[in-house]
Amino acid sequence: MTQNPPAVSDTPVLKLLNVESAYGPIRAIRGVSLQVRRGEIATVLGSNGAGKTTILKTISGIIDPRKGSVEFKGESITAKDPAYIVQQGLSHVPEGREVFPLLSVHDNLLMGAYTRKDKDGIARDMEAVYTYFPILRERAQQDAGLLSGGQQQMLAISRSIMAAPDLMLLDEPSLGLSPKLTKEIFEIVVRINRERGTTILLVEQNANMALNASDYGYVLENGRIVMEDTCARLREKDDIKEFYLGMKEAGVRGERRWKKKKNWR
Ligand SMILES: Nc1ncnc2c1ncn2[C@@H]1O[C@H](COP(=O)(O)OP(=O)(O)OP(=O)(O)O)[C@@H](O)[C@H]1O
Ligand SMILES: [Mg+2]
Repeated sequence: MTQNPPAVSDTPVLKLLNVESAYGPIRAIRGVSLQVRRGEIATVLGSNGAGKTTILKTISGIIDPRKGSVEFKGESITAKDPAYIVQQGLSHVPEGREVFPLLSVHDNLLMGAYTRKDKDGIARDMEAVYTYFPILRERAQQDAGLLSGGQQQMLAISRSIMAAPDLMLLDEPSLGLSPKLTKEIFEIVVRINRERGTTILLVEQNANMALNASDYGYVLENGRIVMEDTCARLREKDDIKEFYLGMKEAGVRGERRWKKKKNWR
């Protein structure tokens, strides 16, 4: 097992240019441009309703953009059929998991591999998934609908691994999970990137987790990218600390202590 990050290439595997998507009169994303380089974990941070899910749905062809273009591995996939986009090597783990509740855990995993023909590879990846999430091995024959929310999230990510994608889109893997489980899931996300070389685009409200796990980040507000940088640099920015990492109070307390020391009011 290697923990070294995969070599990140400068060539973008995914490129969005001025993408605009709407639901009727609601313009959910308004001219979004972003890139994901091969081998990296990129993240889009944003609060409720910022447009994170809409970005992922537009990439994977669930909704067609009104304007702009989406390029994957150098080819335009703008407004292409979702099934075609999956076949090109792009896998989307949607918000809210969406496992097949009446199929067993094992069969859910096999569904993830439906476009593949390499039996040996499928068996290897099944073993990898059961190593990442031992609980899924224990529950392999149980209906997926009986799993807990956290276990369903594990299954949804695992089903995506079974597709052996070049790019994995993850929509809020931390949603509804305890802090402990969120940490575990994020550790596995990083391992998927490090050990399998899978490029990942992650959208999250949990800025702390996302910034720690990712290489490069974008901040989305009201459908627009308002900031982008390496995650190391984003973590140091005051706006990010205050609005996304909830460190405002810490900042105010620090200021009070400092004023007291100086005998200021
Ligand atoms: N099916 C829909 N019909 C109408 N408006 C929608 C629909 N889906 C999303 N919207 C609107 O589009 C905007 C962006 O929504 P989106 O789901 O992309 O946000 P998000 O960043 O994923 O939010 P959350 O963190 O709550 O999941 C919001 O104003 C939302 O109300
Ligand atoms: Mg969302």
